[in-house]
Amino acid sequence: MMDKNQLLESKQQDALKGGGEKRIEAQHKKGKLTARERVDLLLDKGSFEEIGMLVTHRSTNFGLDKEKFLGDGVVTGYGTIDGRLVYVFSQDFTVMGGSLAEAHAQKICRIMDLAMKNGAPVIGLNDSGGARIQEGVVSLGGYADIFYRNVQSSGVVPQISAIMGPCAGGAVYSPALTDFVLMVENTSYMFVTGPNVVKTVTHEEVTSEELGGASTHSTKSGVTHFTAANDAACLKMIRQLVSYMPQNCEEDAPAKDYNPGNESRPKLDTIIPANANTPYDMHDVIREVIDDNSWMEVHKDFAENIIVGFARLAGRSIGVVANQPSYLAGVLDIRSSNKAARFVRFCDAFNIPLLVFEDVPGFLPGTDQEWNGIISNGAKLLYAFSEATVPRVTVITRKAYGGAYDVMNSKHIGADMNYAWPTAEIAVMGAKGAAEIIFKKEISEAADKEGKWKEKEAEYADLFANPYSAAERGYIDEVIIPSQTREKLIRAFAMLQNKAEKAPRKKHANMPL
Ligand code: HXC
Repeated sequence: MMDKNQLLESKQQDALKGGGEKRIEAQHKKGKLTARERVDLLLDKGSFEEIGMLVTHRSTNFGLDKEKFLGDGVVTGYGTIDGRLVYVFSQDFTVMGGSLAEAHAQKICRIMDLAMKNGAPVIGLNDSGGARIQEGVVSLGGYADIFYRNVQSSGVVPQISAIMGPCAGGAVYSPALTDFVLMVENTSYMFVTGPNVVKTVTHEEVTSEELGGASTHSTKSGVTHFTAANDAACLKMIRQLVSYMPQNCEEDAPAKDYNPGNESRPKLDTIIPANANTPYDMHDVIREVIDDNSWMEVHKDFAENIIVGFARLAGRSIGVVANQPSYLAGVLDIRSSNKAARFVRFCDAFNIPLLVFEDVPGFLPGTDQEWNGIISNGAKLLYAFSEATVPRVTVITRKAYGGAYDVMNSKHIGADMNYAWPTAEIAVMGAKGAAEIIFKKEISEAADKEGKWKEKEAEYADLFANPYSAAERGYIDEVIIPSQTREKLIRAFAMLQNKAEKAPRKKHANMPL
């Protein structure tokens, strides 16, 4: 007879085998790591403490009583990333396809509850065939238990979902409720209804990859914020992402060491082209201003007319939101408003100060935008900035036209410091269009219509195609030479470090969704 310690060890060995050698081999053949290999790569070496290794399901349906695997298809527990506590669950596709049912869901809920009580991020590594078909409705109940916790945890602790295999049906909604989604290229997909159902209902023929692969969700739907070439790259990305965040909404993000030096960045004086309609890449501005190698772009390939991402300034974590003049001239549209609004709300929820670079010609005109709701969608970004209580600073590099001027973290909606470069143009609209409207009669009556238009355009440009009208009214706190921007921002954010602003008391707000 085995002694008691041996019995425990043999159970542990059993659990470590997951679904067995053959299935592990099949997992590796697909280019995927196992649930445990993923946890090991994600966390600091040797830091993982497993919870619920011996849990099994209790179902007897369809012969399940003869098919029990210790752990029930999900590895759960806690460990550290760069020495900071995180909770993690990792679905084991080698055990009944990582399918989720009662016990599996309870294990996930257990670590989510611990994360809430102890104030630390939850990281979910998803690789699952969805609801365990044999267990029926308890699987659906299990999902809903998780969804509920996702929502209760939202804004309290950061939640990150990596999709590292199938994620279909209602199972997609837990990742969708979390703060950030990462997908692995070629081995993961997400969809509510798969290609077969799509074919039956809409007669469209589409592969899983086309319907819901990483590139689809990073470019077309925006469901995923990041894509990674493989499992290892994805796990590394999660480690990097967590480094910008605090543990919970009561704390600040960790700061890195910063040695003050010469903060002048002469290259910034040469970035804005002489012609106001020539595009330039706003990444060049961001890169010059932030700390070296501190950039982590979010939603890189989605709605590229706006850039959002994490960076560090003087060692401190910040969220950057910037119009991108080299893509659709940096206009605001439905997708970019949604993208930026969600990012702003994350930063605000987790005490990450916001830095805005503005060069925006306005909202995108057209029936497509109007009929799809640019009004209510554009309002989301306006709403997100207006409600944010973290330190907020804006730098207008060039155009700040129309309603988009108000939206992009203007002084009027609560920004703390507003800077403009001498190249800034802060106006209701571009001079050409403005002249056409307000001097319509004069232009049409002039003998030289073109000449008159040019004259009136210049008149309007003289008055408004600069930052000085706004600066005279205090809408702009200071007009600065571009090369001084980094230094000015370091000082401004240091000045705002203890900002304490409370939102009015309410049950919850009602943002335009
Ligand atoms: C039970 C499942 C399972 C499931 C897979 N398996 N999905 N067991 N419930 N949902 C098991 C398989 O029987 C198999 O067991 C093992 O996992 C691997 O599956 P394969 O089919 O061999 O793998 P693969 O060819 O890679 O295909 C993966 C798959 C496919 C595309 C995910 O398994 C599949 O289509 N599964 C069903 C998906 C589904 O319809 N799920 C329900 C969605 S509805 P063995 O013993 O052979 O290893 C849903 C509702 C949630 O999720 C609602 C929440 C609100």
